[in-house]
Amino acid sequence: MKRILIFTGKGGVGKTSVAAAHALRSAMEGKKTILVSTDMAHNLGDLFEKKIGHEEVKITDQLYALEVDPDYVCMNEFKSMMEAFQKFIESIGKDDQEIDSFTMIPGIDELFSLLKIQQLYEKSDYERIIVDCAPTGETLALLKFPELLCWYMDKFFPVEKIAMRVLSPVSKRLFQIQLPDGKAMSEIEKLYMELIKLQELLKNKEVSSIRLVTIPEKMIVEETKRNYMYMNLYNYNVDGIFINRVLPAEIDNPFFTDWLQIQRRYIDEIQTSFGQIPLYTIPWYDTDLLGLDSVKRICEDGLASSEDLFKVQSNLEGETYEQTENGYQLKLYLPYIEKDQVDVHLSGSDVILKIGNYKRNIPLPNVLRGLEVTYARFEDNRLCIQFEKE
Ligand SMILES: Nc1ncnc2c1ncn2[C@@H]1O[C@H](COP(=O)(O)OP(=O)(O)OP(=O)(O)O)[C@@H](O)[C@H]1O
Ligand SMILES: [Mg+2]
Repeated sequence: MKRILIFTGKGGVGKTSVAAAHALRSAMEGKKTILVSTDMAHNLGDLFEKKIGHEEVKITDQLYALEVDPDYVCMNEFKSMMEAFQKFIESIGKDDQEIDSFTMIPGIDELFSLLKIQQLYEKSDYERIIVDCAPTGETLALLKFPELLCWYMDKFFPVEKIAMRVLSPVSKRLFQIQLPDGKAMSEIEKLYMELIKLQELLKNKEVSSIRLVTIPEKMIVEETKRNYMYMNLYNYNVDGIFINRVLPAEIDNPFFTDWLQIQRRYIDEIQTSFGQIPLYTIPWYDTDLLGLDSVKRICEDGLASSEDLFKVQSNLEGETYEQTENGYQLKLYLPYIEKDQVDVHLSGSDVILKIGNYKRNIPLPNVLRGLEVTYARFEDNRLCIQFEKE
C-alpha cells in the first residue's frame, strides 16, 4: 500500500533531516520515493547540495525530491477551478458574517501544497511520499484547512451537488447569493470533490500518518505534547516520535553534565507520555548535517533498527460514536489536556470544540441531530460528549 508520512515539529528540531533520512531509507529498500517540502522556506536543495524546484528532481536511485510552489500548482493544475471559485467569492454579499469570514480564511494558498501531495499519490507511481513541513503552527493550519473548507462548502451547498445546477434559481433565492452558472458550478463541484478526497486521504490511517520530531528539552517536549493533542483533535494518526539531538551518554566534559541529566529527564518523560507510539532516538552529531552522506548517517544511527519503519504504527481509535442507554456518546482521544481547557457547544448540526486558538466543527451524524449535549467529561484521556433527547 502506498504511504504518506508527514513530518512536523517545532522550528529547527530536525524535521527536514529526519524526513530526508526516511526518504533515503525508503529508496534504499527499493521503493520509489519522493521527498516533498511544503515549507515555504524550502531547504531540501541545501541539504542535498543540488538545485531542487517545483518539478520533481532525481536525487539517487529511487529517490526524488520536490519543493512545492503553491502558486505554480494553482496556476498549472487548478486554474479553472480557482477562477470559478474566485468569481463565486467575489459575488458573495458582505452582510452575511459567516460568508464574509470565508473570504478571510488565511492560508488558502497552502492548500495547493496538499492538493499537490494528493496528485502525487493518485497520479504518479511513488510508493512512498515523505512530506517535510514548516514548523508546527503552520502545519496545523495546513492540516485543518481541507476539513474547514469542506465544512464551509457544505454550508454553502447543502443540497446534492449534482442537483445544484438544476436548483440554481431556487437556491439563489434561498441563500440570497449569486450561484455561478452551469460551467463554473461544475468547476466548483470539482474543487469540492478534490477537497473531500484530500480530507479522506489525509485521514485514512492506512495511508497517511504524522510523525513528530522533538528534542529532549522542556519547552520542546511541551510543544510536542500540545502538537500531538491537536493532531488528535483533527483526527490524524500520529505513529512515530523522533527524539533528535540526543547527547552520547559517555560524553566526558563537565559542561554537559547538567545537559545529560536534562536530556535523560525529558527522554523519560517522552517515554511515559507517548509510550504507545514507537519512539526513535537520533544522536547529536558533532557537525551539522549536509549532503547525502550525513542523511545516511541518520538512517543508520536512528532508523536502522526498525524493520517496520514504513508500516502504520499505531491504531489509536480517533472519534467514535457509541450508543448508550439514554442516547449516544461521541468519544475523542485528547491527551494532555484538562476539561476546563476545552469548550464544547452545539451550533446547528455541528458540535464545536474549542481548545486555545483552535476550533473544530464536527458535523453530527443524522441520528444525533436534534439531541442535546447533556454532559462532557474526560475518561482515560478521552473526551466523552453525551447526547440525549431533551
Ligand atoms: N542530530 C543532529 N546533530 C547535529 N546537527 C543536527 C542534528 N539534527 C539537525 N541538525 C542540524 O540542525 C539544523 C536544523 O535541522 P533541520 O533543518 O533538519 O531542522 P528543521 O526542523 O527542518 O528546521 P526548520 O524548522 O527551520 O525547517 C540543520 O543545520 C541540521 O544540520
Ligand atoms: Mg525544515
